[in-house]
Amino acid sequence: MDNPFLEDMLAGLQRQPKTLSSKYFYDKEGDKIFQEIMNMESYYLPSCELEIIEQKTEDIAKQIGSTELDVIELGAGDGVKTVKLIQGLLAAGKKVNYVPLDISPDVLETNKSNILKQLPQLSIEPIAGDYFKTMQKLSGRTKPKLILFLGSNIGNFKGQSGVDFLTLVKKHTTAEDYLLLGADLKKDPEIILKAYNDPEGITARFNLNLLHRMNKELNANFDLANFKHYPYYNPISGTCYSYLISLKDQKVEIADSTIFFQKNEPLHTEVSQKYSLQDLEELILAAGFNGIESFLDTKEWFSLSLIR
Ligand SMILES: C[S@@+](CC[C@H](N)C(=O)[O-])C[C@H]1O[C@@H](n2cnc3c(N)ncnc32)[C@H](O)[C@@H]1O
Repeated sequence: MDNPFLEDMLAGLQRQPKTLSSKYFYDKEGDKIFQEIMNMESYYLPSCELEIIEQKTEDIAKQIGSTELDVIELGAGDGVKTVKLIQGLLAAGKKVNYVPLDISPDVLETNKSNILKQLPQLSIEPIAGDYFKTMQKLSGRTKPKLILFLGSNIGNFKGQSGVDFLTLVKKHTTAEDYLLLGADLKKDPEIILKAYNDPEGITARFNLNLLHRMNKELNANFDLANFKHYPYYNPISGTCYSYLISLKDQKVEIADSTIFFQKNEPLHTEVSQKYSLQDLEELILAAGFNGIESFLDTKEWFSLSLIR
């Protein structure tokens, strides 16, 4: 079997509790629904992060010695916030080459067109694929790097897996490089839960789209009406969990396998980890980095941390 999507979905559906990898959310439809999420009033993350970019890029640029920079963005998405960051870096006198990495080739097209609309002269080298693999292409680059990991992407890695991911990123850096990490901070639990539980059902559609994607691409027969989106936030651990709950006893065919669901059985689809500033510092230290300076928005809901 040479289909990583099928292999990962089957492995996840055969696990107890059933768990799917959130990186498969982002097909063409998933990209579109994520754009809707980014525009939701209750999904406060992009506006907080954009405020920090608009207010603090000059300070961030001052910390970075090199004039020439490869700006490498992991899980780049649509580039709407990044273009503001790059404009700030250019205004601070940096020469930038932009390298967005994303698993979704479609979102990379959107990214390129959004960036070039505002910065037609910018050199841009999109790389499509899973960043666990494409990151290996970074080691050979000779210019100092500013690696961006924005949009609370780090929150999709819980506990040790976050440390492991950042340790891997560090392996591809030199002492001249920087990492700019966007992380969502712990706050009023109701504000956090609302971001993943909008009354319009957009986040529900985003989660259910993964079942739809399996129907389309893996010949599965999920009935989406038989599953309900259920997010849950634990204010002690700072973890927001998304589940799809099976509304009845049912069986689903996927490729040549049959998966059984009991009534009320959860299918875990995503974690979104929230951090205190101390949690962030501990995470960075555990990954082997040693310098961190965090820039916050005025509400102190989100952090952009510059890491040496
Ligand atoms: C939460 S969105 C954030 C997008 C962007 N960084 C922002 O701040 O708006 C996550 C992005 O990471 C991409 N992604 C998720 N898992 C990935 C992986 N394993 N490798 C590469 N890209 C991935 C998705 O396609 C999506 O564009």
